[in-house]
Amino acid sequence: MNLRQLVGKTVLVTGGGSGIGRETALAFARRGADLVICDIDEKGLEATASGLRQLGPGQVHAHRVDVASADEVQAFADAVHARIPAVDVLVNNAGVAIGGGFLDTSLPDWEWILGVNLRGVIHGCHYFVPPMVERGAGGHVVNVSSAAGYFASGQLAAYCTTKFGVLGLSEALRDELSSHDIGVTTICPGIINTPITRAAKLVGPDATPEARDAMISVYQRRNYGPDRVAERILSAVDHNRGVAPITLEAWVFYYLKRWVPGLLARLSRTARERGRRQMGLDAS
Ligand SMILES: NC(=O)c1ccc[n+]([C@@H]2O[C@H](COP(=O)([O-])OP(=O)(O)OC[C@H]3O[C@@H](n4cnc5c(N)ncnc54)[C@H](O)[C@@H]3O)[C@@H](O)[C@H]2O)c1
Repeated sequence: MNLRQLVGKTVLVTGGGSGIGRETALAFARRGADLVICDIDEKGLEATASGLRQLGPGQVHAHRVDVASADEVQAFADAVHARIPAVDVLVNNAGVAIGGGFLDTSLPDWEWILGVNLRGVIHGCHYFVPPMVERGAGGHVVNVSSAAGYFASGQLAAYCTTKFGVLGLSEALRDELSSHDIGVTTICPGIINTPITRAAKLVGPDATPEARDAMISVYQRRNYGPDRVAERILSAVDHNRGVAPITLEAWVFYYLKRWVPGLLARLSRTARERGRRQMGLDAS
């Protein structure tokens, strides 16, 4: 999709109240697009909306929506489609994280993360893609997965499950929508310094303040900001890329997984055991 002609086009971003979603909304607005953002966090949503309004003449619409609720996404879609026939770019970005293994993850935790990360993306596609197809003017869908969408770590069992699902859904959708001139891109970031490190739920032996501080410190030292992810998202849409790993580690995992998956699994185990030893936890 040609991003030089975004004036008069509408971009919708879920989870626009923070991190990657906020920066992606701002980056599209700087190119002249009208923005529709949604989030469950009304304060974050309003902060992004006011940043968007300061950027210029593009329209800004902000809606409080829980993407895990089909009813709420349907009402949101009805409100958007009362104004325009279809969005031009749909960015399914809203997400949550659980740090911990399968044995430590409760069924309510599974429901929560599947609801937001996987069903949230399905709801976004279900309610916003058919009008794009019916309008017949093409467009683009961006689904935010993760490097954890192709590299499974035992410490991120539920998170990986949802992000593998998003990658699979997006690849199938890309195949199906190509005949409608609608591109689909799966975004797979590595370690990005956003508030997700504070919002993530930790379960099992790693659910300690020390483990959270250690995680926050890794993300801060990695120092890769969401504004850089946003620029890569725009570039991936511009070039209609299928899968876009973002950050060096995401690319390294992407190729290791393809060519030497056994080595990647060993590296992951070694890193996990070292981390747990550093935090004084049993390395078994
Ligand atoms: N930060 C990273 O290292 C990283 C790496 C890979 C992938 N990702 C993915 O990027 C996306 C954005 O994450 P981020 O790092 O910007 O995190 P973030 O916490 O800064 O932003 C996520 C946003 O989603 C919103 N949200 C959560 N549940 C919601 C719901 N039910 N309905 C609507 N909105 C909801 C939050 O309120 C928040 O504003 C997520 O899908 C995440 O899994 C992040």
